[in-house]
Amino acid sequence: MPVIMPIYGTRPEAIKLAPIVAALKASSQLSCVVTVTGQHRAMLDQVNELFGIVPDYDLDIIQQRQTLTSIMTKTIAGLDRLFEQSTPDAVIVQGDTTTSTAAAIAAFYHGIPVIHVEAGLRSGNLFSPFPEEANRKITSQIASLHLAPTSSSRANLLAENVPGENIVVTGNTVIDALLNTVEQNVTFADPQLEELAVSGRKILLVTTHRRENQGEAMRGVGRAIARIAKAEPQLTIVLPVHKNPAVREAVLPAIEGLQNVIVTEPLAYGEFTRLLSISHIILTDSGGVQEEAPSLGKPVLVMRENTERPEAVDAGTVSLIGTDEDRIVSEVDNLLNDKASFNSMASAINPYGDGQAAPRSVAAIEKMFGLGERMTDFGLSPTTRS
Ligand code: UD1
Ligand code: UDP
Repeated sequence: MPVIMPIYGTRPEAIKLAPIVAALKASSQLSCVVTVTGQHRAMLDQVNELFGIVPDYDLDIIQQRQTLTSIMTKTIAGLDRLFEQSTPDAVIVQGDTTTSTAAAIAAFYHGIPVIHVEAGLRSGNLFSPFPEEANRKITSQIASLHLAPTSSSRANLLAENVPGENIVVTGNTVIDALLNTVEQNVTFADPQLEELAVSGRKILLVTTHRRENQGEAMRGVGRAIARIAKAEPQLTIVLPVHKNPAVREAVLPAIEGLQNVIVTEPLAYGEFTRLLSISHIILTDSGGVQEEAPSLGKPVLVMRENTERPEAVDAGTVSLIGTDEDRIVSEVDNLLNDKASFNSMASAINPYGDGQAAPRSVAAIEKMFGLGERMTDFGLSPTTRS
């Protein structure tokens, strides 16, 4: 039976691969061996624990304030050794982190086929997001099977001469994870959040971590949060803050001591999805949150200049607002106080998936090994598939 090895290292990869790991383990045609790099530690372990995944191999590469070079070299060297003792028939990598590209390169060097989940996202700017746009383009060059979340990501790959027969449009597996998790409606471990949930107060949920926003842009985000909190005392702002010390140093000083701002450690995925579902507005620079919030009908203000996820922007539920402090304040103010603007962004849409991305992915992998047939692509009815 072909052995498939998902390799991942960060929180979003773990969330997005958990449905695929479950589907692989349920497959009677494929066997699954999980490797983590440990690019993240607490934030990775939290997700594996939630989904009941116990990795078979753990490279444990994390360093405080790690550099891109250290993630890349430690991952390649660790996998180089691992593949000598345990050679899978294919590896799965997800998205655009440095773990994912390093794992793809290590597998490629060993002649192991690479399956790329969430293939074909492009911002069109090599330096933004940095280094993710470069990472995903590199992985596309060496992958054998490209599991594209949407038809526009498929079009991006075709435009770069990836053969159409190697691309399957699956939907994004984050929607599989979200739909399964949010319906569990878990209790918050932090009593402040549980009190907030029953209070009916309006919630502005904020997350920020992007490397290119660290420094002055992120200090501006902190100042903007403080100004919004003071101007809108009836609002509660919740910031589950990323573990990265560079993020904490930038964003936290301006918001210390504000009564209507709750700063938490990274929330377990179940708690975070519940918080998303009870929030009024989302302010974020996260990729995954941009995909999840629209399916819960939540307006999303994205603190970036561009996005590789145009679908929800086109549908009107996501707005790109950049990182200018004044702009952040005025965009949040507009959504809080102008009902028409809020309503125009608050419709639930599902451009990123239908909850079946993991079975579609595993069917495509089985087909790759001559063991089954593909399912109908996401977004295509059986009659329109070309
Ligand atoms: C990484 C990914 C980014 C992804 C993000 C998701 C790269 C280059 N970046 O960025 O694409 O969007 O994850 O969150 O692959 N830390 C801990 N414990 C943890 C996690 C992080 O202490 O569980 C701290 C460490 O000091 C670490 C730092 O955060 O050095 C930065 O982590 P790193 O993975 O390098 O960058 P992220 O910004 O998390
Ligand atoms: N998330 C979480 N707990 C948190 C914040 C985010 O579980 O406290 C989840 C979120 O639902 C999404 C993913 O983490 O699925 C996004 O991760 P992140 O923003 O770190 O990375 P990105 O998606 O930008 O690569």
